[in-house]
Amino acid sequence: MGQKMTDSVTLTIDGKTYTFPVIIGTEGEKAIDITRLRQETGFITFDPGFGNTGSCSSSITFMNGEKGVLRYRGIPIEQLAEKSTFVETAYLLINGHLPSLEELNRNRVMLNDSSLVHEDMHIFFQNFPKASHPMGILSSMVNALRSFYPELKDEDNITKDFLNLISKVRTMAAMSYRFSKGEKIVYPRHDLTYCENFLNMMFDSPVRPYVLDEDIVRALNVFLILHGDHEQNCSTAAVRVVGSGRVNLYAAISAGIAALWGPLHGGANQAVIEMLTDIHKNGVSIDEVIKKAKDKNDPFRLMGFGHRVYKTYDPRAKIMKKMCDKVLSKISGPDPLLDIAKQLEEVALTDPYFVDHNLYPNVDFYSGIVLRAIGIPTNMFTVMFAIGRLPGWISQWKESMEDPNWKISRPRQIYTGLSEHDYVELKDR
Ligand code: CMC
Repeated sequence: MGQKMTDSVTLTIDGKTYTFPVIIGTEGEKAIDITRLRQETGFITFDPGFGNTGSCSSSITFMNGEKGVLRYRGIPIEQLAEKSTFVETAYLLINGHLPSLEELNRNRVMLNDSSLVHEDMHIFFQNFPKASHPMGILSSMVNALRSFYPELKDEDNITKDFLNLISKVRTMAAMSYRFSKGEKIVYPRHDLTYCENFLNMMFDSPVRPYVLDEDIVRALNVFLILHGDHEQNCSTAAVRVVGSGRVNLYAAISAGIAALWGPLHGGANQAVIEMLTDIHKNGVSIDEVIKKAKDKNDPFRLMGFGHRVYKTYDPRAKIMKKMCDKVLSKISGPDPLLDIAKQLEEVALTDPYFVDHNLYPNVDFYSGIVLRAIGIPTNMFTVMFAIGRLPGWISQWKESMEDPNWKISRPRQIYTGLSEHDYVELKDR
């Protein structure tokens, strides 16, 4: 928690002055502590979408939306994307420090040991209707995991729960893809790393064995690292809110997955590719798309653009854009969708509407192009985001459970409905 300074703010209501303390975070972020506001004044604050509301203090992720800064546990995202692996970054997020070699190795062994999914769960995967969206399947199956793997209680075992989830969610993601194609599942292998295993479980086949490529494995690691955590976004807030009722870890994460699915949040990576494909197929001009995005009478938005916190270029999008060029040149050759994305960006960044509204590409604008190049089908894009965000959700859930000031989430409202009136008997209506 940030230091409580002697600084305070005063609020005057009907001539009476109230004083509220100010909280300052380690990076100088300031908040007015209004926990006693209603008790002292009878007023509540009104902040739809919580754009000005701090719901917790957290030591996991720091963002500066004006400067385009993102750090996990103090380490810049650029350094993690260049030097770390997803498994190491997950350890950092959950435990608060980088692992020693011994800790990392122990983690790897535990991840491998928990990579299988109970055979009785296969029947569920097989019986979802073929057209089911993988995010719906994943959210349901993560919730169901609790029945198959009752939570472990003591300190050491809670780490096992976390690794169990990180390992199994990846296995389940690959399984749901195989089932959706009517193909036999591929089991995880102990000799492969986390990302290698995922690719192998997705794409290996008896007729065409999957050949691992270190650049693809690296691209997947970077993709997952970039999605690791993003402080109090919609899905993380969902995990904390649902978790605040002291529900089990699996149920809280399942709520996060459901929240991430939406096209304004994690579902934007799928929506971007669908938008770019549509532009490509139908030969829509860039100017037409930009005009449509600006039209207030048209619900269309430029997907992959804009962010609640970033008012400049999303630092994750910068890394993702560079990776597109690298991955495409190495693996799959030019992608017309990347050309369209770059043209859209160029026009949008000089258009007064986008400039005035501070709308820049976010992580989802280029991530789908990387995933396409790796071979991931479009309807699995948001599942990939979920695999990446899992360590973030887990670390935020853990932090909330350990927070001595934690309370059940229960916002207030301003009631705007009818005033009291009498019930009318059915015969008189
Ligand atoms: N295209 C056109 N106009 C936009 C866009 C966009 N993508 N995003 C925001 N605006 C406009 C919006 O119409 C509004 O204009 P005005 O003030 O004139 O009415 C203004 O910008 C502010 O928009 P808002 O919806 O109030 O902003 P928000 O902070 O509530 O929403 C957002 C943020 C991400 C939901 C929104 O920018 C959006 O819908 N973007 C497209 C979807 C998308 O790419 N989502 C992925 C976000 S990053 C991944 C993640 O972490 O979730």
